[in-house]
Amino acid sequence: VTIARIFAERLLTTPPLASDVGAIERAYVDVDGELIARVGEESSAPPFDGPTTRARLVTAGLVDAHTHAPWAGSRHAEFALKMAGADYETIAKSGGGIVSTMRAVRAQSHDDLTRELVSRVRRMTLLGVTTVEAKSGYGLDLAGEEKQLSAIHAASRLVDATLVPTFLGLHALPPEAAGDRDAYARRVVDEVYPALAAQGLFRFVDAYVDRAAFSVEQARPLCERARADGFGVRLHVGQFADVGGAALAATVGAASIDHAEHVDEPALAALAATDTRVVLLPVASLTLRGPAPDVAAMRRAGLRLVVASDANPGTAPTESLPLALALAVRLYGLSVDEAIRGATVEAAASLGLFDRGHVSVGARADLVLWDLPHEAALVQPWGTSRASRVLVAGRTVS
Ligand code: NIG
Ligand code: FE
Repeated sequence: VTIARIFAERLLTTPPLASDVGAIERAYVDVDGELIARVGEESSAPPFDGPTTRARLVTAGLVDAHTHAPWAGSRHAEFALKMAGADYETIAKSGGGIVSTMRAVRAQSHDDLTRELVSRVRRMTLLGVTTVEAKSGYGLDLAGEEKQLSAIHAASRLVDATLVPTFLGLHALPPEAAGDRDAYARRVVDEVYPALAAQGLFRFVDAYVDRAAFSVEQARPLCERARADGFGVRLHVGQFADVGGAALAATVGAASIDHAEHVDEPALAALAATDTRVVLLPVASLTLRGPAPDVAAMRRAGLRLVVASDANPGTAPTESLPLALALAVRLYGLSVDEAIRGATVEAAASLGLFDRGHVSVGARADLVLWDLPHEAALVQPWGTSRASRVLVAGRTVS
């Protein structure tokens, strides 16, 4: 068993059920195997003769709770159209958008999709990200969704980060559905979902409940079936319009509503009694030139906030959770503490992972040593990584 001690000028413990980052100045963390064995002020550290290292700022490994990481192809042509004034929903209606990535994913082999995903996740880890939620939703038929989800499983054996697979069963309507959203949604629940669930390919289901996507009526059976089977639910909600997705999330006990730029205060208040977190995706707002969500109303409702990258080729062409943190603070007005908690302990909790996202005795030793003086600097850089060392389960991985 290896034990190592890390001295930190500043350590963020991000404890569960708190609202601040739990900073300790001149701190130490002892890592014993895969776990954190001791944490505290350097002055109270017991004698130690194992390997030691020094860092400026130390945090828990970052957790990206919303990505569409297993994608293929590129949407650069669409980006040019968007910059010239075309809007996302119009592009989608004319066969672009999600369906164009569907074509690329269907055409890609399982192995190539896995390779591309592995590279992407490794780049995320270089930025300090040690847990990544990854959605399907670009296959849009059984073979395609199965290929994406099995690529996530294959990739998870090849990367250091933990991957959490989500079946995004209702993302867009594939061309072969011939415009019949009701029939497609039924087929997803009756045929695609059970086949994937039987293989143990996902932990969460997701649905895009929005104006140009799926209705509450279309999404509800998938959510209810998944909950009955013991899976968690995450929902894309209110990215363009509030069509009742947040209320659906409340009734099915969803783990998260994601985006939520267009969710009004009563709908947010209805979530107050639940354990549903709000996953904020500011990179997508920036790309779509959309409004900020009503963060003040979310705070009034006592909702716990998560910040994620939304990594996808259409609305968030980035792999950087630190970029999302910078934008959450700059565009959405999150406090630095909210942003950091939203990418650590709250993000992990939204994924049902309570062993990480905080630096405490017995927690998994997923840690980032930052070449930065303070977390207020962590939410500023948009450029190269400032993670000088990343540990996953006690092992240095970058
Ligand atoms: O989170 N809004 C739906 N899904 C993604 C975009 C996916 C895509 O455009 O490929 C999102 O923004
Ligand atoms: Fe998304």
